[in-house]
Amino acid sequence: MRKILVTGGAGFIGSHFIRLLLTRYDYEVVNLDALMYSGNLKNLSDVEGHGRYRFIHGDIRDEAAVGEAMAGADAVVHFAAESHVDRSIREPDAFLQTNIIGTYRLLEAARRGDIERFLLVSTDEVYGQVLTGTSREGDPLDPRSPYSATKASADLLVRAYWTTYGLPVVTTRGSNNFGPNQYPEKIIPLFITNAIDSLALPLYNDGKAVRDYIYVTDHCEGIAAVLHRGQPGEVYNVGGGNLKNGIEIATAILRVLGKPEGLITFVTDRPGHDLRYSLDSSKAQALGWKPGHSFETALESTVAWYRENEGWWREIKSGAYRDYYRKMYGERGNP
Ligand code: NAD
Ligand code: TYD
Repeated sequence: MRKILVTGGAGFIGSHFIRLLLTRYDYEVVNLDALMYSGNLKNLSDVEGHGRYRFIHGDIRDEAAVGEAMAGADAVVHFAAESHVDRSIREPDAFLQTNIIGTYRLLEAARRGDIERFLLVSTDEVYGQVLTGTSREGDPLDPRSPYSATKASADLLVRAYWTTYGLPVVTTRGSNNFGPNQYPEKIIPLFITNAIDSLALPLYNDGKAVRDYIYVTDHCEGIAAVLHRGQPGEVYNVGGGNLKNGIEIATAILRVLGKPEGLITFVTDRPGHDLRYSLDSSKAQALGWKPGHSFETALESTVAWYRENEGWWREIKSGAYRDYYRKMYGERGNP
């Protein structure tokens, strides 16, 4: 492989993955991103002028843009998606468009091209909630939100292109990521930035829902391992193994920032809230990958990043985000 097309590379995880590809390997990297609300070229300002990097501003649903971006590519790593569950509950349309139709467009271009590897970045949410035990790759998919239903659709479509057309696909199912550059709508960056401003940390229902957290660069290393050593047609769970509920996340953030626990507020639950995810990642670990960061030190460095990069998130929080947040949640202690 010489040239890799990354979709959604201006987003949170994609930008870390592009940095990994450029610093660790010799690949030429093309980034196709439509710069939707969470896409931000500031996430990649350090690699902007890199000789092996090219940005194409385009939509994965647009055949012409996809054709241009995929020209000469040997591999595709597909991150581009609508990624936030709460948004999918209120406005599912964009999720169907991007996560399903967009993935289909990429697969069509890939099967007509000369693609050696097509990697879909999927999610543990496709298994649905697992109240006990851990999800393994062969478990049935049971998505319960519009977001996870569209990711499961993409996941199945990708596998269909392997069995039907022999397109050499691999799929990763990652757990909940956190780290620098995460759009402040997911729990960790929302709570860090709220706590810095002494705003309320809104926990859904009783704050007991559990997620399996992974530091973003550990997830990216897992994706790279699957890209290089995964078997075509196979799926690999990439989880951090840090099972935490909302209360634990909120109190850990408040502790690192030295803020009072009184900032925690309990609010109406998310409809259809998945109460627990947990991944068995032994199949990916058999490829020689394992997460390298402890939750505690990774959270401390994430908090430090948000403290040192206030301009990055204050600009987001003062723009369209503010109106959107009010529309979604009213005055629930937010900007
Ligand atoms: P993000 O919202 O930060 O980034 C998504 C990126 O995709 C943005 O840059 C956006 O502009 C781009 N995009 C959206 N629609 C597009 C379109 N139609 N055409 C081109 N670009 C488009 O999301 P993220 O958290 O970085 O997630 C990236 C991927 O990883 C997603 O596929 C998501 O489902 C998956 N994933 C995320 C997590 C997580 O915890 N964040 C966990 C597992 C898997
Ligand atoms: P989130 O970061 O939205 O990720 P997921 O895609 O896994 O839902 O939410 C993580 C957990 O935190 C989930 O159980 C919902 C909860 N949560 C809150 O309690 N309050 C919030 O404001 C948000 C955004 C999430």
